[in-house]
Amino acid sequence: MKYILIAITIISAVACTTSKLYTPGEKNVNKVETATLAELQQGRDLFVKSCDKCHKLPKIDSRNNESWKKVIGFMAPKAKLNNDQAELIYKYVANR
Ligand code: HEC
Repeated sequence: MKYILIAITIISAVACTTSKLYTPGEKNVNKVETATLAELQQGRDLFVKSCDKCHKLPKIDSRNNESWKKVIGFMAPKAKLNNDQAELIYKYVANR
């Protein structure tokens, strides 16, 4: 019984870390793209709210920034987001 509990604890800990999305902090401000902390937080919000409607929320580390820029440009209209909102999502992803 003890081992089962330990196993469950380990499995849920791993599941949590892999699905965890980074929370922007001071170290992410202007890291790659010029962006304030408030912009990065808005970007995270938009990403979480708009990008898991048709598929699972994509993993940020799954592609590089250039590729992200293209994908977000392509996906933003699907998510009914305007250019400014798309830009905020891109900044959040790029400054990880
Ligand atoms: C209205 C539905 C819809 C919304 C909203 C949506 N997507 Fe998608 N997304 C799709 C579909 C359908 C595909 C797979 C089709 C394709 O690859 O052309 C896809 C594929 C993707 C892929 C994989 C593409 C590849 O070539 O591997 C990524 C990454 C992605 N979406 C990111 C996003 C992001 C970021 C957002 C939020 C801005 C978003 N999606 C919002 C429908 C959506």
